[in-house]
Order: sequence, then structure tokens, then C-alpha cells
Amino acid sequence: MTRTRLLINIDHVATLRNARKETFPDPVHAATLCELGGADGIVFHLREDRRHINDRDVRLLRQTVRSKLDFELSTAEEIVSICCDVVPELATLVPERREEITTEGGLDVLASRRRLDEVIPRLYDAGIAEVALFVDPDEAQIRAAADAGANAVELHTGDFANSRGGDRQAYLARLAAAGTLARDLGLALHAGHGLDYDNYDTFHDGMPHLDEVSIGFAIVARAVFVGLEQAVRDMAFLVKA
Ligand code: PXP
Repeated sequence: MTRTRLLINIDHVATLRNARKETFPDPVHAATLCELGGADGIVFHLREDRRHINDRDVRLLRQTVRSKLDFELSTAEEIVSICCDVVPELATLVPERREEITTEGGLDVLASRRRLDEVIPRLYDAGIAEVALFVDPDEAQIRAAADAGANAVELHTGDFANSRGGDRQAYLARLAAAGTLARDLGLALHAGHGLDYDNYDTFHDGMPHLDEVSIGFAIVARAVFVGLEQAVRDMAFLVKA
């Protein structure tokens, strides 16, 4: 079995920079340190309101990232067009609401199907090899993602991460069933949201065939105390062991 890849979301470095309207800490520098620490890829979300990552960051990340670049985006026309120009290795479509603190819940693929049918072929036509839909671990959504032409899903792990005890085991069982279905449908399997140094082992032990995880907040938070490269090494040890 191939090992799970660790992709690191650097949005929170940009959040810190923007809090003081400064030019540092630079998420582009952060991406390089993540790669030195063992990241298999770098993730960013270019939001319509540009609250963290901005257009300059995207341009420089495309030029400097040597590993896999994952561009998280909504289906908003302006952002889709930027993504098609940038040509990341992976485009992950996520829902986006202006008032949310972070991405809440997966895409409703069934309800967004008409727009997804326009956007997904455009992403492939631009030369993007992998298109993932960020979905809840729900059978209908996963079947709809495959039907819409995505070649990967990213399972939303937030409910698992935020729960404890029996609830956590139940959410994990849902994720495992969703993961098995995704693989049976021929989709690459990604996962993310709320994964951290404490819950990762439980998560991974319960999940069959996981290709990739996307982790941000826990790593950037630990970096405040131990430095970014060390924080990445600590997570890479868990993910790739
Ligand atoms: N995957 C997606 C689609 C996300 O929106 C986020 C949050 O930006 C993550 C993964 C990473 O979540 P966290 O920052 O909690 O690790």
C-alpha cells in the first residue's frame, strides 16, 4: 500500500500577516519551509474576499512550490478563471460563505450540479490533472461527485475532529464507509479539516486507503512554539510512519 501524502495549508500564515497589514510572515516563505520539513504538497484557499491568501501569493506560490500545489476554490467565476491560469496540480472545489470563520461543511454537489458541470471541464481543459470536491462523508454526495466528473474527493473530517467518545467512533465509521465507496468509484481519496497531532492516529487507523491529507491550523499553531519546519516534521512523522 502506498503511504499517505501530507499536504499543508498555509492560509493561517497569511492570516497573521494580514492582521497587521504587514508583508510578513510570508506564506511563500512558509511553503518553502514546509517542503524542507517533508510536506508532499502545499494548499491555499484563494477566497473571494482575499481575507488571507492574495493574488500575489498565488503567483509566487506557483513559481516557487516544487511539490504538489493544491488550489482550493469556490465556483465563483473570477476565482475559477485565476485557477485556470495558474494550473495547480490539484484544484479542490469547496463551498464558501463570506461570514464563515473557516470552510463549514462540504459542498452540496447535488444542489450545485449545474455550475459544477460548467466548472469541472474547464479546470481539466486548462491542464489541471486532478479535480477534487470537498464533501461530507455522505453516500449521495460521493456518488454525485463521481458522476459530475471529479477524479478525487476530499472528505470533510470536521465532525470527527470535533467529537469525542462514541460519537467520534461513529463519525469515523462514516468516514471509513465513505472512503471505501469513493475508492470503489475510482476516486482518489483525500481528507481534511481539524486533523491534529492528537487525533491523527485514531483517524488514520480507522480509515482504509487514504491517499492524501490536508492539514493547516494545527501545524501553524504548533509552529508558534517549535518553529514551522519542526511542526511539519512532527506531523510528517505521524502521517508517513
Ligand atoms: N481542507 C479544506 C477543504 C479546508 O477548507 C481546510 C481549512 O482551510 C482544511 C482542509 C484544513 O483544515 P485545518 O486548518 O483545520 O487543518
